[in-house]
Amino acid sequence: MKILIVYSSKTGNTQRVAEAISRQLPAAELFDVKRAPDPSGYDLIFMGSWIDKGTADKGARTFIEKLKNQRVAIFSTLGAYPDSEHATKSLDAIVELMPTCEVVERFICQGAISPKLIKWMKMLPKNHPHAADAARKKRWADAESHPNEEDFKNVRVWAEKVVS
Ligand SMILES: Cc1cc2nc3c(=O)[nH]c(=O)nc-3n(C[C@H](O)[C@H](O)[C@H](O)COP(=O)(O)O)c2cc1C
Repeated sequence: MKILIVYSSKTGNTQRVAEAISRQLPAAELFDVKRAPDPSGYDLIFMGSWIDKGTADKGARTFIEKLKNQRVAIFSTLGAYPDSEHATKSLDAIVELMPTCEVVERFICQGAISPKLIKWMKMLPKNHPHAADAARKKRWADAESHPNEEDFKNVRVWAEKVVS
């Protein structure tokens, strides 16, 4: 089985998750989305993106447009909690981007939010939907240590399940 792992990553979180998958599946080919090959010759594609405004980031979306009638396993990192409604909806939105494909499995975990974005959100007025309230500050702090060793272990177990 020919397997491709593609990731889009701005600050490295999704890249490190993709590398954990690659360690589990050494025969699979691993590429940054910027250098990814034509996906049509692969039997299975692991498609990694970071969540940007509730869906796959732009780099990932450009590549997703090339996926036609393929078997895909999607994985993402995000600032919100992985068991949140926002995480579920974000993955649903990614699945909708590939209507001709069979999405066989999905994985999501938290990823540290860039300090620049946090700084910007901390400056927002109190009534802004992304303003820094206590719950949000806790989530940012919780995200800071992710992806961690447990996430890497989880994604390796997940990747093995996908191929078996
Ligand atoms: C511009 C921008 C938009 C983001 N939008 C969301 C979002 O809608 N939901 C969320 O949970 N996290 C969001 N995040 C957080 C990132 O998805 C998260 O930090 C991710 O792990 C970054 O992955 P990367 O290191 O691979 O780039 C956003 C981050 C940035 C910079």
